[in-house]
Amino acid sequence: MPASRSPVPDFLYGTAWKEERTAPLTELALRAGFRGIDTANQRKHYFEAGVGHALAAAYRARVATREQLFLQTKFTYQPGQDDRLPYDPAASYSIQVAQSMASSLEHLGTDYVDSYVLHGPASGYGWTEHDAEVWAAMIKERDGGRTRLLGVSNVSIRHLHQMVASGAEPPAFVQNRCFARLGWDRDVRAFCRERKIVYQGFSLLTANLEVLHSRRVGEIAARLRATTPQVVFRFALAVGMLPLTGTSDAEHMKQDLASRHLSLSADDVSAIERLAG
Ligand SMILES: NC(=O)c1ccc[n+]([C@@H]2O[C@H](COP(=O)([O-])OP(=O)(O)OC[C@H]3O[C@@H](n4cnc5c(N)ncnc54)[C@H](OP(=O)(O)O)[C@@H]3O)[C@@H](O)[C@H]2O)c1
Repeated sequence: MPASRSPVPDFLYGTAWKEERTAPLTELALRAGFRGIDTANQRKHYFEAGVGHALAAAYRARVATREQLFLQTKFTYQPGQDDRLPYDPAASYSIQVAQSMASSLEHLGTDYVDSYVLHGPASGYGWTEHDAEVWAAMIKERDGGRTRLLGVSNVSIRHLHQMVASGAEPPAFVQNRCFARLGWDRDVRAFCRERKIVYQGFSLLTANLEVLHSRRVGEIAARLRATTPQVVFRFALAVGMLPLTGTSDAEHMKQDLASRHLSLSADDVSAIERLAG
């Protein structure tokens, strides 16, 4: 792991659901200026090796160096996978995590990732002893230098309270689907804010079509000569989120990154925050 570490970027490019287009789209995203890449060792929804091909092409073309990039991948329990598993399902969770990480590093052509995320807890109801075993194994990966930081995904406030109450080390990241109708994941975001955990929001557009079609967001977009998706991404940044986009469109890549420079007023932000939840 190099001494000079890439900072956590302010936007992540998501690589889910792209199959054979994963490599060209990820390379396009890097060329457009994304420096944070989100993937997972879950072949059902991600082609992690395709991300690795894009990285190799980007390094060759001097688009970016490894040290300038923030690479995030995930450990996924067997129920979230198809039969293309990156580990031996008969092995203990600790071994599965080590095998999944080794496979991710090979896919991505690197000897460390910047963030390693538990894709989702074993149970929707709470933090279990399976999660505790996986988290301990993830900490071992971090302590061994194979990831800089750790995160959890698809968690409720209950998971997070139970995780912390169990004495587990808190995550550096929480990655959740962010529904405006739930106050933009208000409780989880507050938990993160209090503990300096970075909240990563996904499905900001697809989970919130009512926001994209709202009059207020339409007015803000018209005033800023921007699109409504750009307003939503700028809002996410303004309330302290690290947004993800998985756009497959070159123009949208540019627009999503450009949203960082829009000036939303405090009134705009609080109006959008109150919109649906
Ligand atoms: N942890 C998890 O369980 C989990 C689950 C889901 C996703 N993720 C991560 O999050 C990433 C993003 O996923 P997502 O659910 O947010 O959905 P997404 O795959 O990013 O889809 C976003 C949609 O918004 C559109 N879009 C993006 N920018 C736009 C713009 N400027 N103008 C108009 N339309 C725009 C895209 O269409 P175009 O392609 O036409 O632009 C696409 O239809 C994934 O790739 C993955 O890395 C993680």
